[in-house]
Amino acid sequence: MGKVFVCDHPLIQHKLTYIRDENTTTKDFRELVDEVATLMAYEITRDIPLQKVQVKTPVTTAECSVISGRMLGLIPILRAGLGMVDGILKLVPAAKVGHIGLYRDPQTLEPVEYYAKLPTDVQERELIVIDPMLATGGSANAAITALKNRSCSQIKLMCLIAAPEGVQSVQKAHPDVDIYVAAIDDYLNDHGYIVPGLGDAGDRLFGTK
Ligand code: PRP
Ligand code: URA
Repeated sequence: MGKVFVCDHPLIQHKLTYIRDENTTTKDFRELVDEVATLMAYEITRDIPLQKVQVKTPVTTAECSVISGRMLGLIPILRAGLGMVDGILKLVPAAKVGHIGLYRDPQTLEPVEYYAKLPTDVQERELIVIDPMLATGGSANAAITALKNRSCSQIKLMCLIAAPEGVQSVQKAHPDVDIYVAAIDDYLNDHGYIVPGLGDAGDRLFGTK
């Protein structure tokens, strides 16, 4: 079963509180999501392998470490996943970015894929699927399945807020995928919204409501 990591660093929890607040403006919401994505990227890259290199300092030659060229791919689920991409790229600027477009049908809550554009070498990369919200898990599961259908195998999932239902759903459908979240909230309401949550992530990021 995939592991679940709750990134409970005080800076993340502090910023998440303002992300949740309905009085936070679109501009501040966007900036805070970007900042939390950077902080979470620090956690999610913790197991990236290092290799030894020799460095000549002004004093001597030292054996030091650099990241050993593991190739990363970021896969934001459109739309709301876009809000976390730049924050992660600040730490891993060489990562490539692929996009998967999904929306939830408001009646069935089932995800509908409308777009997919991925790096040509996507199956060789370690992938991080990004979406602020893991509600029923339908969108994340569909995105991960879309990647596996293209022979991708090293996949992690990164979300800001998850519902317990979504975590269980991804763990059941994709037991090989570890999940990184900033919070696991209480439950899903009758409209499939996470409670307490933050509302509609896409609308709050892009000011569409
Ligand atoms: C939201 C969110 C996730 C999805 C989560 O997207 O960004 O992709 O819902 O719900 P689920 O776990 O039940 O699938 P939405 O469908 O509202 O599309 P948008 O990002 O274009 O607004
Ligand atoms: N999608 C959102 O944007 N918010 C939720 O609470 C659930 C799904």
